[in-house]
Amino acid sequence: MGRPGLRGLHPLLSSPSSRLPVFRVFRVFQVSRVFCVFHVFDRVCTRPRGPLNPAGLKTHRIALYPGDGIGVDVTDAAVAVLRALEPSIESSRFELTRFDWGCRYYDQHGVVAPPDFIATLRPFDAIFLGAVGWPQRLPDYITLKPLITIRQTFDQWACVRPARTFPGVPGPLAGAPTVDLVVIRENSEGEYVDNGGRFRIGHPDEFAVQSALHTRRGIERALRFGFELARKRRHRLTLATKSNAQRYAFTLWDEVLDLVRAEYRDVETDKQHIDAIAMNFVRRPGFFDVVVGSNLFGDILTDLSGAITGGLGLNPSANLNPERTAPSLFEPVHGSAPDIAGKGIANPTGAILALAMMLDWLGEPAAARRVERAVEAVLGRGERTPDLGGNLGTVAFTEKIIGAATA
Ligand SMILES: NC(=O)c1ccc[n+]([C@@H]2O[C@H](COP(=O)([O-])OP(=O)(O)OC[C@H]3O[C@@H](n4cnc5c(N)ncnc54)[C@H](O)[C@@H]3O)[C@@H](O)[C@H]2O)c1
Repeated sequence: MGRPGLRGLHPLLSSPSSRLPVFRVFRVFQVSRVFCVFHVFDRVCTRPRGPLNPAGLKTHRIALYPGDGIGVDVTDAAVAVLRALEPSIESSRFELTRFDWGCRYYDQHGVVAPPDFIATLRPFDAIFLGAVGWPQRLPDYITLKPLITIRQTFDQWACVRPARTFPGVPGPLAGAPTVDLVVIRENSEGEYVDNGGRFRIGHPDEFAVQSALHTRRGIERALRFGFELARKRRHRLTLATKSNAQRYAFTLWDEVLDLVRAEYRDVETDKQHIDAIAMNFVRRPGFFDVVVGSNLFGDILTDLSGAITGGLGLNPSANLNPERTAPSLFEPVHGSAPDIAGKGIANPTGAILALAMMLDWLGEPAAARRVERAVEAVLGRGERTPDLGGNLGTVAFTEKIIGAATA
C-alpha cells in the first residue's frame, strides 16, 4: 500500500457538512464514512462554529497560547505561515487572539494563567499552543497544569500524533527504514488524572500515592477512534498494554480491545506490552500503523516516534474533542526546549504541521494540504534546521516554507 502519511488522518480531521445537530442515522445516509466518522461516537455531529461576517466570510477564532521557551518561536512561525496563506483561503478569515501565559506571566501575577482561563478559551473555535514548561524557572506541575486542565475540561479525549519520515531528513536508525505511524493517545484520564497525595512530607518515611483512572467508556472511544483511523490507512492497529504487570487497568484495556476488534475484522489487530513496543519502534518501525495507548504510554511513545523519524521538532499533535462541544487544541509534540530557547534555531516543523491539522479540523483541507506539501518540498530539498543537520534558523526555515506554500 502507499504511504498514507498525514493524509490518512484527514477524514478524521475534516468537518462534517452541517452546523446543526444531525442524528446518527441521517448522518450515515447523508455522507460516506470517509467524510464523517464521528457518528460512531455520538448522536450528533456539528460543524466548525465560525460565523459569517458581513462580507460573507467565515471567521475562525483561534486562541494562541505560545507558552514558554521555543513555544513562542514555533507559534510565531506557524502564525506567519497562516497569515501568508490567508489571502488564498477565499471563504475564510482567521481571528487570532494571543494569550501570553506561562513563566513570564507568573513573574508578574504569581500564576501561570488567570483563574478564568478556561472560560476565556471556551468560545474559541480552536486553541494553538506552542509549548509550556521551564523547569529551571518553575516546577513543571505548575506550568503544565493549564494544558492538562484544558485537555480534560474540554474533553479532548483523542490525542492524534502522527510520525513519519521525510525524504531529505536523515533518521537515526540503521538502514533508514520508512516510518509512517500514528499514535492515538487516550487524553482525558488514565495516569494523568489529578488523584493522589504526598504524606509525611519531608520525613524519612514520606510516601506518595498516585492513582490512575481507566474507564470502559474512555478506553472504548479511544480504541474506536483508532480503528476508524486504521481503516483509512493500512488496516493495522496495535494496542499498547502492560497487563502482565498492571493487572487491573490493562486487563480492562485488553478486554475492551477484544470486544471492539470483533466489529473491525478488516483491521489486523495485535497488542504488545509497552516495553516491547518501545523496542519494536526501534527494531521494526515499519510494522506499525495505528497504535493506541493510555495517556502515559502515548506520551512516552510519541517522544520515541519523534526520535526515530529524525527529531522531536518534526511531529505535530491534535488534542481533539471529536464531538465539538468545546475547542480542540493543536500543538507540536515537543516541549519548550529551554536548552535552545532564545537561540533562534528551533525547528518549527511540528508546529507548522500542527497548523495543517488545525486547518483540516476547521474545514480548510486545501490550505492544510498546501502546508504539508510545502513542508515536504522544503525538507526534500535538504533545507533544514540545525537539529536535523541543517543550518537554517527558525525564521529562515519558515520563510522557505512560506515561499513553497505560496508559490
Ligand atoms: N506539550 C508541552 O507543552 C510539553 C511537552 C513536552 C515537554 N514539555 C515541557 O518542556 C520542558 C522541556 O522538556 P524536555 O527538555 O524534556 O523536552 P523538549 O521536547 O523540550 O526537548 C527535548 C530535546 O529535544 C530538543 N528539541 C525539542 N523540540 C525541538 C525543536 N522544535 N527544534 C529543535 N530541537 C528541539 C531540545 O532542544 C531538547 O534537547 C519541560 O518543562 C517539559 O515538561 C512540554
